[in-house]
Amino acid sequence: VQSLVRLFSQAFHTEPLLVRSPGRINLLGEHTDYNEGFVLPAAIDKFAYVAVQKRADNRVVLLAADLNEQVETTLDAVKPVKQSWCNYILGVTQQFLLNKYPLGGYNLAVSSNIPVGAGLSSSAALACATAYALNELFECGVDKLTLAKFAQAAEHTFAGVQCGIMDQFASLFGRKNHVILLDCRSMEYEYVPLQLKAHELVLVDSGVKHALASSAYNQRRKECEEGVRIISRHYASVKSLRDVAPEQVDECLSGHSLLHKRCKYVVEENQRVTGACHDLVHDHIDAFGKKMVQTHRGLQVLYEVSCSELDFLVDKAISLPGVSGARMMGGGFGGCTLNLLFSEYVDQVIGMVASAYSEKYGRVPAVYRVKTADGTTIVPLPA
Ligand code: GLA
Repeated sequence: VQSLVRLFSQAFHTEPLLVRSPGRINLLGEHTDYNEGFVLPAAIDKFAYVAVQKRADNRVVLLAADLNEQVETTLDAVKPVKQSWCNYILGVTQQFLLNKYPLGGYNLAVSSNIPVGAGLSSSAALACATAYALNELFECGVDKLTLAKFAQAAEHTFAGVQCGIMDQFASLFGRKNHVILLDCRSMEYEYVPLQLKAHELVLVDSGVKHALASSAYNQRRKECEEGVRIISRHYASVKSLRDVAPEQVDECLSGHSLLHKRCKYVVEENQRVTGACHDLVHDHIDAFGKKMVQTHRGLQVLYEVSCSELDFLVDKAISLPGVSGARMMGGGFGGCTLNLLFSEYVDQVIGMVASAYSEKYGRVPAVYRVKTADGTTIVPLPA
């Protein structure tokens, strides 16, 4: 924080407004958000920070402290650029402009400690930090849900990923020691206390990032929509997979084996989230852990968004004592596994998983022992 503010002040000769927005984990409810289903994410104690201040002209000057890169444009020329980090900032800027909010030129410097490509939503955090900061700076009065939608739209238009709302919502609305049960249809939400007592959540990073991840993601989304179209020919009231029961998937999609697998997974996953919340509230951690493994199998076999590295990490973890559950997390095709294990076993389990992984894949996986955190907020400038 201190070096970001120093960099900003040296580059722009003024004090910034400082905003931070967290990354996220997701306990359960994967690939359900864009199907109007349920998700169970939490914000984590890793953050994207933006330092921002108005300019007198209509220029937009962006600095990435961690990459030592600078990009300049003007408000009337905002468009996607090759530096991907800029696109989350510029995409959000365009949303304010399209919605006729009175933005002016600004200087912005960014720094983040959310690992990139690990499935912890570093890009959503950057977009949300930017949205929150511009809203404050230019006094636009936009509510947080709309800011989340601006950040989501930035991902759609400037990064080409047709993502759901989970990541942006979790980043803006997160609450320390809680997970968010979000209904992605009504956008109603509830904070569920996360009191794990004897357990801990640990992330193991496969270090894999498949280049085709975003096109495969968009493809999954299309497949779900196609499944809904077919099911709605039989059941006119069906508008999304949220409205569909497992038996209807079997009945309507029996002749479409690929769509059947995709839709079956989503419908089952929605049911799991509801049950999982009950498990959490009643401290049934083992039952919760079993659902995580079921989710992993669904993502692996039916939704087909896992990869051999993630499967290996999960299989290894759940073969060890002290592990209640494990699964791949996020969009898939790489990134982290989420592991739920007894605190006293963490060192032992992580050591064994890491050494088995490095033996097989030739690299030691990064491990993150994350804590939950509050959502997007202004940070006081260091003294
Ligand atoms: C990515 C997307 C989210 C969500 C998850 C899968 O993180 O950005 O909207 O769809 O994948 O659950």
